[in-house]
Amino acid sequence: MPGDRGLMRPMVTKISDILSAARGAVAGVTTHADLDAVRAKFLGPNGVLRELMKSIADLPKGDRPAAGQAVNACKSEMEEIFREKFDFIESRDVSTLLGGRIDPTLSEACAAEIFCHPLTGVKNRVLEIFSKLGFCAVDGPEIETEWFCFDALNTPQSHPSRDDRDTFYFDGTLSVGNVSKRNSERLMLRTHTSTVQVRTMLRQKPPIRILSQGRVFRKDAIDATHSPNFHQCEGLVVDENVTVCDLKSTLDFFFAELTGGECEIRMRPSFFPFVSPGFEVDFRSGNLGKLSNRWIEAAGCGMVAPSVFGNCGYDAAAVSGFAFGVGIERLAMLLFGVDDIRLFFQNDTRFLRQFPMAMF
Ligand code: PHE
Repeated sequence: MPGDRGLMRPMVTKISDILSAARGAVAGVTTHADLDAVRAKFLGPNGVLRELMKSIADLPKGDRPAAGQAVNACKSEMEEIFREKFDFIESRDVSTLLGGRIDPTLSEACAAEIFCHPLTGVKNRVLEIFSKLGFCAVDGPEIETEWFCFDALNTPQSHPSRDDRDTFYFDGTLSVGNVSKRNSERLMLRTHTSTVQVRTMLRQKPPIRILSQGRVFRKDAIDATHSPNFHQCEGLVVDENVTVCDLKSTLDFFFAELTGGECEIRMRPSFFPFVSPGFEVDFRSGNLGKLSNRWIEAAGCGMVAPSVFGNCGYDAAAVSGFAFGVGIERLAMLLFGVDDIRLFFQNDTRFLRQFPMAMF
């Protein structure tokens, strides 16, 4: 260090003494008023720190920049001492105000325990897996018209799902006069997220690679495996020359990622009005606890029916595509070994807190 070391060294000692004195003075303080008085003594216009600053002028010129830096560092540290004490008094006062029911001085480790609902966790995981394949998330309304939920999806008027014992309809109708070619439409709560397929195709041209997720509603009696309100995720891919092989490899990838390892899937022929051919998907994995190595039904899927393309203004001869749908509650029950769907909706944090954060 340039200049007279003999004069600079006492400065360093003085700073360290001042900081110790500030810590000592703050330690016994319990109110903001007392803290202000101590602060004035150290940081005020006639305080200890101001005196220290003035004394820099007595140092040889070469030592002044280093001394200035040391005094500034001292000032920052002292401000930190006062800030900490201020926060401490304040949080203790808040706690007193709240009757001591919370302790705001608890460390951040406790705050980190904030967790997400297992259904949100599974939904996010599904979105994350499909985003690796280039799918993007889209949304659609929960209140729909019959056209979007049934007609556009090739579901005839006589189909049992359209019965008002199965579906929640609103009283009255809505004047639409648009895509449905009717003047008015009955409003309802959507029974599946396949409505978003239709809305997306009406809005944009192929290629399409989307995933829609959200709440769906069916008039099911509540029991361990049914709820009138649950969540679905549905995928749609439309392009030239899309085949069942593309559908199968997409689902292979999804279930392997979801179960975190070796996983087989099988597709059984099944019927959904809006796909042809249609399939139910079962998967089998060694990573599923009690359910390991058993075939488990987990999704519906198929190749988009030509009439659905027609209803959405696509040329069915020029494009092809597939769609699939999974139930979020069902996936969560399988992955976590939960045997009653109602547990997800009862908001008992002792239940909700149990699920591994690693999943999410
Ligand atoms: N929407 C169907 C259901 O709710 C699931 C499905 C989606 C089936 C896409 C085939 C293709 O049951």
